[in-house]
Amino acid sequence: MKATLIKNPSSELLSKLAQHEQSVFGQAGLDEWSLGYLIRHGRVYLLEDDYEVMGLAELIRDFDKPDTAFLIGLSIKSEKQNQGLGSYFLEELIREISNSYVSKVILTVDSKNHPAVSFYKKNGFIQFDQIKDYYGQGKDRLLFKRHLPPACRQAGSAIGY
Ligand SMILES: CC(C)(COP(=O)(O)OP(=O)(O)OC[C@H]1O[C@@H](n2cnc3c(N)ncnc32)[C@H](O)[C@@H]1OP(=O)(O)O)[C@@H](O)C(=O)NCCC(=O)NCCS
Repeated sequence: MKATLIKNPSSELLSKLAQHEQSVFGQAGLDEWSLGYLIRHGRVYLLEDDYEVMGLAELIRDFDKPDTAFLIGLSIKSEKQNQGLGSYFLEELIREISNSYVSKVILTVDSKNHPAVSFYKKNGFIQFDQIKDYYGQGKDRLLFKRHLPPACRQAGSAIGY
């Protein structure tokens, strides 16, 4: 199992990533277009096993608060969920972005997505807000945050395997 920052993806990889997004999130999954600019101007991490996509995570840095990263999405292949991979992947990417002067990670979750709410709480995130119609009418979201301790911000250099 290997977690890597994606750079210069082939069209084949981009297509595989978009397929992964659709299979986990359905219509709300990111397409090749969005993944293309997020890879080049944000951060997209891939969790893979023997060239198979096991998980994907996308982040952007907040323009108004540059020490804050927004985790757009984190997903694990459906058949591999609830086996510890998401927790491993999350820690690896947090360790990696903490080297980019990021001291806080924020994200949104659908309050009805109980596995994800439970997952983030279990992994040190706390809810700090709730925004109605965040992604359009009826698509309310809970906002979670996790502060990265200074030790974490200094630790490590390359993403672990
Ligand atoms: C949310 C997600 C990333 C978590 O990754 P994971 O590999 O499944 O999670 P882990 O095995 O590392 O962690 C397990 C914990 O997550 C939560 N969890 C994961 N799957 C769950 C399920 N099917 N039912 C209930 N809780 C679940 C629980 O808190 C669980 O801890 P517990 O076993 O002590 O109850 C993954 O389930 C996923 O991709 N879900 C679909 C996409 C999604 O909703 N992403 C989050 C919003 S962006």
